[in-house]
Amino acid sequence: MVSTGDIAAAVDILRGGGLVAFPTETVYGLGADAANPDAVGRVFTAKGRPRGHPVIVHLAEPAAAKEWAAEVPDFAAALAEAFWPGPLTLVLPRSDLVSDAVTGGLPTVGLRVPAQSLALELIGAFGGGVAAPSANRFGRVSPTRADHVRADLGGAVDLILDGGPCPVGVESTIVDCSGAHPRLLRPGGVPEESLEAVLGYKLDVILDGSVRAPGMLSSHYAPSARVEVLPAEAIATRAQELVALGIRVGILAPGRMMGLPRGVEALPPTGSAVAYAQCLYQRLREADRRGLEVLLAVPPPETGVGTAVADRLRRAAGTGSTG
Ligand code: TXA
Ligand code: MG
Repeated sequence: MVSTGDIAAAVDILRGGGLVAFPTETVYGLGADAANPDAVGRVFTAKGRPRGHPVIVHLAEPAAAKEWAAEVPDFAAALAEAFWPGPLTLVLPRSDLVSDAVTGGLPTVGLRVPAQSLALELIGAFGGGVAAPSANRFGRVSPTRADHVRADLGGAVDLILDGGPCPVGVESTIVDCSGAHPRLLRPGGVPEESLEAVLGYKLDVILDGSVRAPGMLSSHYAPSARVEVLPAEAIATRAQELVALGIRVGILAPGRMMGLPRGVEALPPTGSAVAYAQCLYQRLREADRRGLEVLLAVPPPETGVGTAVADRLRRAAGTGSTG
């Protein structure tokens, strides 16, 4: 468990330009002082992430968005009001407070108020913005437990705050609010349907990578096992083919699969879309721990958070929409 001392130590590290991994409701973040370009640079080095990819600035309260954004249009304010704190990132025109280290030179900044008490305590006690990408090596599976961060980044982080498993399990929904109309850049913890209910109209969806966002590369969130995304009814036949070739095959699916050939390793069923999101990254790691060569994955129905799960599975398979 985390004590007040840990928060105080974490704040000292952030003030000194160091790196603190911390839990959010979505995934663990690798945090640095957003106002210190050298500290933000260290995040890129630790992750092995190419410079020029923007990172999200995490804030303790919605009102702070006015300091980090040059402008907050009404539709963005409505989304913030409805979903902050929560798994929603708003991309807004940046203010003078924001450096190129954070935005990769873009004229916009991604802002988010996470719904996780430890994260809010940390950011609040720090008193500034915390720049944080997911706390994993670039291109790999995002961490939903402190252990995942330790295994992936270990010595590169000054302190890991352990807040237990992340309750949402997939990253925030990203909405670009820097133009005349909001555009969905990444499906995530807040379903598209919920955003549209607040806005009162359909969102434009831009998932083709034309906006620079590494989580939107066609291959991302990938385990070492090769992922193939298939409908439930195609699984048994495909598993048979692979097993016949002597390949170690695993199955990831919402429910229990029948008629699987001998030797196939079915991971525990994921259940509903919400439960699937919670366990997705844990299961992808499990596939690697078991030394599976191919993971056959059945996506959940694409409504609610199921859209984000299906998106991450396709990207893990390297068949995301950037082609
Ligand atoms: O749930 C989350 O969003 C987690 C937690 C830690 O908050 N963070 C996360 O960060 O997933 P990261 O860096 O792994 O992915 C953030 C995404 C990237 O695809 C990045 O390019 C995009 O947000 N992004 C950040 N600022 C942006 C901007 N100004 N314009 C477009 N995309 C932006
Ligand atoms: Mg990431």
